[in-house]
Amino acid sequence: MKKFSHVIVKRPCRALTEGITSGLYPGKPDYELALRQHDAYIAALKQCGVDVTVLPADEAYPDSCFVEDPAILTRACAVITNPGAPSRKGETPAILEAVRQFYPEDQIEFIRDPGTLEGGDVMMVGDHFFVGRSARTNQEGIRQFAAILAKYGMTCSEVPLTEVLHLKTGVNYLENGNMLVSGEFVDKPDFAAYHRVRIPEDEAYAANCIWVNDTVIVPEGYPAVLAAVRGLGYRTLTVDTSEYRKIDGGLSCLSLRF
Ligand code: GLY
Repeated sequence: MKKFSHVIVKRPCRALTEGITSGLYPGKPDYELALRQHDAYIAALKQCGVDVTVLPADEAYPDSCFVEDPAILTRACAVITNPGAPSRKGETPAILEAVRQFYPEDQIEFIRDPGTLEGGDVMMVGDHFFVGRSARTNQEGIRQFAAILAKYGMTCSEVPLTEVLHLKTGVNYLENGNMLVSGEFVDKPDFAAYHRVRIPEDEAYAANCIWVNDTVIVPEGYPAVLAAVRGLGYRTLTVDTSEYRKIDGGLSCLSLRF
């Protein structure tokens, strides 16, 4: 099934080494290696049949390669978010400019103060969106997002989370009813209707895989998750994200797929 035609990514900047991190995966990102991993990520996306728009790096924003957070791109509208991390709020103008190439002005919506919302907390399942209430996404942000979606005939529901950065740090939808779940999301009743694949604790990082047109991109180095995804019948590609992992970034954070 071809669902996505376009992807937006943004080159990592040298200041990536100062990106926000929980310290869960120690070490500073190696910028040159991060660039090579970004090249491989783009190549993998292209193998999934999408056009890739590559935005230039912005040294003012260390985390700005994680384009998933400042916008949510749906079939009917684009939502420019209001990131909860103060150092990330200024990422939105560049994303807005890019999004304008794909969405008419009257289909671009905004999350505004005091609402905060980051795209990493938003998981699309058809026309329904699960939204993590996290340290980055607050209740007012979710309320505004729900009102925007309702205008376009779409819905959302809130999923409180306490242990990880974003919702999609721990749960990701692979289409066809399949969902990867780890940690605090394993037994959440919110996801009971789906075929849940439980990710082993020592491979929790790889809960963050992305489905792109029937191919699933899996982070390199997680054999149990790779086998599980293949077992679901998907074609798989692997990409090494070791340098992004050090600042809590994963495969989904690095692109907007629409
Ligand atoms: N380092 C990614 C984030 O904290 O938003």
